[in-house]
Amino acid sequence: MKVAVIGATGTIGQAVSTLLENEGHEVIKSSRNNEPKINIDRPGSIDEFYDQIDNVDAVICAAGIANFGALQELTDQQIQRGIQSKLMGQVNLVRKGIEHLNEGGVFILTSGMLASKPWPKTSAVAMVNAGLEGFTRAAALDLPDNKRICIVSPPLISETAKKMGRDSDPWPDADKVAQTYLSTLNSDANGEVIYVPGYEY
Ligand SMILES: NC(=O)c1ccc[n+]([C@@H]2O[C@H](COP(=O)([O-])OP(=O)(O)OC[C@H]3O[C@@H](n4cnc5c(N)ncnc54)[C@H](OP(=O)(O)O)[C@@H]3O)[C@@H](O)[C@H]2O)c1
Repeated sequence: MKVAVIGATGTIGQAVSTLLENEGHEVIKSSRNNEPKINIDRPGSIDEFYDQIDNVDAVICAAGIANFGALQELTDQQIQRGIQSKLMGQVNLVRKGIEHLNEGGVFILTSGMLASKPWPKTSAVAMVNAGLEGFTRAAALDLPDNKRICIVSPPLISETAKKMGRDSDPWPDADKVAQTYLSTLNSDANGEVIYVPGYEY
């Protein structure tokens, strides 16, 4: 399959790209700094990206930023950032990508466990993740030509836990999480939130 991975240089995206290439797929690895470049925060950049790559069988997004912070301390700008980047970035990737997805193709988005199992200081991230999951369930009902959409909800990744100075032992590594993106690609799931096995929050 021809698969576009957005956020392909990141912790999750890199593991997904490598796994898909090892499985024999053609992978277009994109980010703001990786050609063909895309900035999902900017709708015009999404249009330019799709014009460059022609049609694909799958679009996988492991990109988008949302800010952590206590509810009382989050600024308007921080809350808006998550809406513009992780939420609307992925929503627009789907809206603008429908006509660039081959018949039977799939969009695989990324949310995160905070949608259903929040920690303190995560309200802006949890809001975005939960919004994306609702969007996915409903968007599946509108997609034409047997096109599908799913969203992977990863737990904290062990590599990220380490960077945060947290105990990484309870968490899966990016290679394990990448397997969930692959199994979603190979499934016929539609409109579903997909969890990493063993981490169904
Ligand atoms: N890591 C975790 O523990 C974890 C857990 C649950 C959910 N998630 C979610 O999974 C996604 C990926 O996380 P990650 O930890 O892999 O992130 P990461 O390591 O920071 O990598 C982010 C990737 O996305 C690209 N990117 C960032 N902003 C972009 C934009 N506006 N347009 C296009 N590309 C952009 C980055 O490359 P450039 O800088 O070149 O653009 C990079 O390739 C995020 O949405 C995150 O919230 C992560």
